[in-house]
Amino acid sequence: MKFLVTGGAGFIGSHLVHRLQSHAPVHVLDNLTTGRRDRLVGSGCRLFEGSILDRTLLAEAVQGVTHIFHLAAMVSVSESVAQPSACEQTNVEGTRQVLEAASKAGAKRFVLASSCAIYGNDPKTPKNESLPPAPASPYAESKLAGEKMCAASAVPAVALRFFNVYGPGQDPHGPYAAAIPSFFQSALSHTPITIHGDGKQTRDFVFVEDVTAALFHAALHPDLGGVYNVASGQSTSILQLAQKIISLTGSSSTITHTPERPGDVRFSSASIERIRATGWAPRTALEEGLTRLMPKN
Ligand SMILES: NC(=O)c1ccc[n+]([C@@H]2O[C@H](COP(=O)([O-])OP(=O)(O)OC[C@H]3O[C@@H](n4cnc5c(N)ncnc54)[C@H](O)[C@@H]3O)[C@@H](O)[C@H]2O)c1
Repeated sequence: MKFLVTGGAGFIGSHLVHRLQSHAPVHVLDNLTTGRRDRLVGSGCRLFEGSILDRTLLAEAVQGVTHIFHLAAMVSVSESVAQPSACEQTNVEGTRQVLEAASKAGAKRFVLASSCAIYGNDPKTPKNESLPPAPASPYAESKLAGEKMCAASAVPAVALRFFNVYGPGQDPHGPYAAAIPSFFQSALSHTPITIHGDGKQTRDFVFVEDVTAALFHAALHPDLGGVYNVASGQSTSILQLAQKIISLTGSSSTITHTPERPGDVRFSSASIERIRATGWAPRTALEEGLTRLMPKN
């Protein structure tokens, strides 16, 4: 076996690379836009620095690879609304090229990092994989296009629809930072926590180690195919999340509200029965995962 992780210097990708290293050699292809080289320290992987859109580099990175995890992407919904063509280029054309390279290299399996954004604002909950897709942003459209390419590919492929992933090493900075690291940063510095909209929007937060376990499971379990939700199966409102983090950190932060962001989904709650039936289950409850994010003195 040999693995390729595109986007392997990213938040989820780097956790995956560390998990894979004891099983077989790992190649990482990452252009370090949001990824960071220091996340790979001690992983023993070989880093190919550059874009998935660079066919020459991609052909080198995929050589001899048996299992491909395709995580490289423009990951922010807001950024995709602001820059739809760049999103299409990286997420749709990029996925096409990685799939083609996987096929040429004779890879045994391709696992795509897809997203719950595909369900959009369909009011039906919990979201299960049989619901018709209702993408509400260029990001969601691009992930749906990736899933369709996987379904039509010659390489056996699985798409995992991640819900809201959190864990150590997630970037709290920048306009597109995820809620948990940015709430922690505010709470620990006792500055106000900013919520987009009224905070009643719900999300299913899943711990990154559960997600890397699902990726590994999807790559090696011979019977998996098609699409699977990867989530905790529990939904939490953003307001509840902020309150939990304030209480856990003993913070004096207040909560402030800004307008809702375009493309943001209102209610997100996952059914995980499909992947559970194949032998994967989440192991980390939100309270435990949040506790593991507390700084050690
Ligand atoms: N974090 C979540 O909650 C979440 C939820 C649903 C889906 N996903 C998907 O999981 C994957 C990983 O997300 P993440 O949270 O780790 O984000 P991340 O931004 O930390 O990782 C993405 C990685 O892709 C790299 N990259 C971007 N464009 C590239 C290109 N053209 N060529 C090579 N590398 C490129 C970045 O440098 C980065 O290392 C993404 O596909 C994302 O859409 C994440």
